[in-house]
Amino acid sequence: MSRLIILACVFLAGVIYTDAAVARMLVELGKEARFDFGENMLVVRRTTKLSPNSQYIFASPQQDGTWTTDGTDKIGKGAHLFFNGTLIIAKMTEEDIGSYEMPMETPRPNLARTMIDFALKDN
Ligand SMILES: *[C@@H]1O[C@H](CO)[C@@H](O)[C@H](O)[C@H]1NC(C)=O
Repeated sequence: MSRLIILACVFLAGVIYTDAAVARMLVELGKEARFDFGENMLVVRRTTKLSPNSQYIFASPQQDGTWTTDGTDKIGKGAHLFFNGTLIIAKMTEEDIGSYEMPMETPRPNLARTMIDFALKDN
């Protein structure tokens, strides 16, 4: 019985892994990074080593380039999310390396959300 459960878990993990839409975006430190999350993506969430909590950026006319975990703290700099869903980070730093997600993405049954991994380009 327990063997069956383990097998089921391995199978499920395999399904989740293969269906996850994970994209990799190669970036260079000190250079501009831009990613088009698409229409209607007015919030981007990211996880980087700057904070143990998820950081958010909102498309709005008043942006100072920072991200926030709770609406009051300000983390990072030089980021801008446009109303067309394009995120631009003026100068990539080590602190911007991490995973980026779209909380407003329409959930697809049984599929993982899209995740974009900002990774350093090897030179
Ligand atoms: C979105 O708008 C910004 C600022 O106008 C522009 O730089 C970017 O190219 C646009 N993105 C798309 C996908 O058109």
